[in-house]
Amino acid sequence: MKYKKKIIKVAIDSPAAAGAGTLAKSLSKHYNLLYLDTGKIYRMLAFIKINQKNKFNKKFLKMKIKNLDIKTLNNNNLLSDEVGTEASLIAKDRSIRNLVYAFQKNCAYNPPKNFNGSCLDGRDITYKIIPDADFKFFITANVQTRARRRFNELKKLKKKITYTSVLKSIKKRDKNDYNRRISPLKKTKDSVLINTSKLSKRACFLKIKKIMDVKIKI
Ligand code: C5P
Repeated sequence: MKYKKKIIKVAIDSPAAAGAGTLAKSLSKHYNLLYLDTGKIYRMLAFIKINQKNKFNKKFLKMKIKNLDIKTLNNNNLLSDEVGTEASLIAKDRSIRNLVYAFQKNCAYNPPKNFNGSCLDGRDITYKIIPDADFKFFITANVQTRARRRFNELKKLKKKITYTSVLKSIKKRDKNDYNRRISPLKKTKDSVLINTSKLSKRACFLKIKKIMDVKIKI
């Protein structure tokens, strides 16, 4: 099957700190896809809830998402553990998810013309946001590896944090994300499972590239 004019849609779901973001970024660069880290949108809303509590209302959040420029999501303030935990709490709320839904769909199905397609990562991308994606992946790693990676990332950002507290919050977030009623994290039957625990970033990238190249001739 050749994709020449048609856009390529890549959907990735993963638990926290499994390396999905890094992979999605390198895939997007390689195949020239619009990349959206959907967790960052929930993090942005969580950041507002923590820091501008009086603005945390539907009207304001709607306006924020409507005018959202993806580039502004690359903000180190959104990376803290506190913001991640709050994001996983507000992400359980159907009305919050509904606010974010159309924005994600639009990125996935209508990327700007200069891109060959889109690549989104999150928790419900493979079955809710892009159910007809051309490629679906479930990226995971054991919880200790994920906590170690997140701990190192946060340390680099000079955040005061311990490995134990990161491990605890990742376990809590897993529990929230896998068990919630609305849009839980799950691996769909049609997603390819990639366990990154023992793989380098490059090895993960090549593994996925091999799968995608079979179908793509750009
Ligand atoms: O991916 P990240 O860890 O930055 O996401 C933060 C939180 O946002 C997750 O723990 C999850 O609860 C929520 N999220 C979600 N659906 C998505 C992406 C993220 O519920 N598509």
